[in-house]
Parts: sequence; C-alpha cells; structure tokens
Amino acid sequence: MDLIVAADKSWGIGKDNGLLASLPTDMKYFKEHTMGKVVVMGRKTLESLPGKKGLPKRTNIVLTTNPDYEAERCIIVNSEDELFEKLSEYDPEEVMLIGGGAMYNKYYKLCDKLYVTKMDAELGADTFIANFDEDPDFEIVSESEPVTENGVTFRFTVYEKKK
Ligand SMILES: NC(=O)c1ccc[n+]([C@@H]2O[C@H](COP(=O)([O-])OP(=O)(O)OC[C@H]3O[C@@H](n4cnc5c(N)ncnc54)[C@H](OP(=O)(O)O)[C@@H]3O)[C@@H](O)[C@H]2O)c1
Repeated sequence: MDLIVAADKSWGIGKDNGLLASLPTDMKYFKEHTMGKVVVMGRKTLESLPGKKGLPKRTNIVLTTNPDYEAERCIIVNSEDELFEKLSEYDPEEVMLIGGGAMYNKYYKLCDKLYVTKMDAELGADTFIANFDEDPDFEIVSESEPVTENGVTFRFTVYEKKK
C-alpha cells in the first residue's frame, strides 16, 4: 500500500472537512496516481468528495464504524480487521491510502511509498498528519521542481520506507 497527500509546512492537510488549497496540477497528479487503483479512505474524506460519492474508475473502500452506512460506488468496511481482509483481495501495489488525517496517522507506517505534495505555506489547517521528515523509517527519494498555482508553491515529494 502507498499513500498520497498534500500537506502544508506544518503538515496540515485539511480545514472544515475540505482541502487547504485548489491546485489543478496536484489534482492531475492525484488522478494519475490513483486511476484504476483501489483507494482507501475514512468516512469524513468520502463526505468531502463531490456528491459524497466514491471516485470514478477506482475501487473505493471506506472505513466507518456505522454498520448502516452506504455510499455510491463504495465498498464499506466497519473495522480495521474487515479493512485488511478486504484489501487482501487486491495486489498491495494497487492500493492507495487517500486520507484523511485519522487514516494517514493510523496507517502510514504500513505504506511503502508516500507521495507528498509539500505546500510551502501555512494554510490554517485544523487536521494534521505526522511529520514524515522526522520518521527515521522513511527517506525522501525524489522531489520535483517547485510549481506555483493560486499563490501556493508546492513540490511533489516521494518518500520510501528504508530497506
Ligand atoms: N490534503 C490531502 O491530501 C487530504 C486528503 C484526504 C483528506 N483530507 C482532509 O482531511 C480531513 C478529513 O480527515 P479526518 O481525520 O477528519 O477524517 P478521515 O480520516 O477522513 O475519516 C475519519 C473517520 O474514518 C472512520 N474510521 C477511522 N478509523 C476507523 C476504524 N479503525 N474503524 C472504523 N472506522 C474508522 C471513522 O468514521 P465514523 O465516524 O463514521 O465511524 C472516522 O470518524 C478533511 O479536511 C479532508 O479534506 C486532505
């Protein structure tokens, strides 16, 4: 399993159950890295998506404690055990964790690659993830040139779990 996230300088990732910035090039990058794959998310992230529906052309797996929860295009799982049982049906290289804060913090250590769009700004987040730079189990293997959109400069950074 890998993960993909956009984080600001304080490792903030969201505010008011939405994203911190609108970055078309990052959206494109997200699409490229998730299309055709299995995407795993928490219930709050699903509810932040357009129409509160799963993403098209991807297998969407949503974790919630609510046993009656239903959402279009989504496979619902109600516990960590159920999640990993479901994920065992897929190639781990095809599974991408897409948020949000609770899910990244619980499961990032299980990921092999972390695709982090690093935004060089403080964007007033209310949801944060761990500082991956301080995790000795991961190292940066690539970083793109900076891109600026809508007043925010960002870089596509990839971390890998150390062998
Ligand atoms: N910047 C980015 O790349 C990015 C990406 C994704 C999301 N986000 C942002 O992140 C924020 C949402 O993150 P969040 O931390 O508030 O929520 P979240 O991680 O999306 O969802 C949390 C929910 O997942 C369910 N859950 C988590 N662990 C569970 C478990 N072990 N068993 C059963 N259910 C479990 C619970 O749902 P129930 O309460 O229904 O039980 C929990 O309330 C939003 O602002 C969103 O825009 C940012």
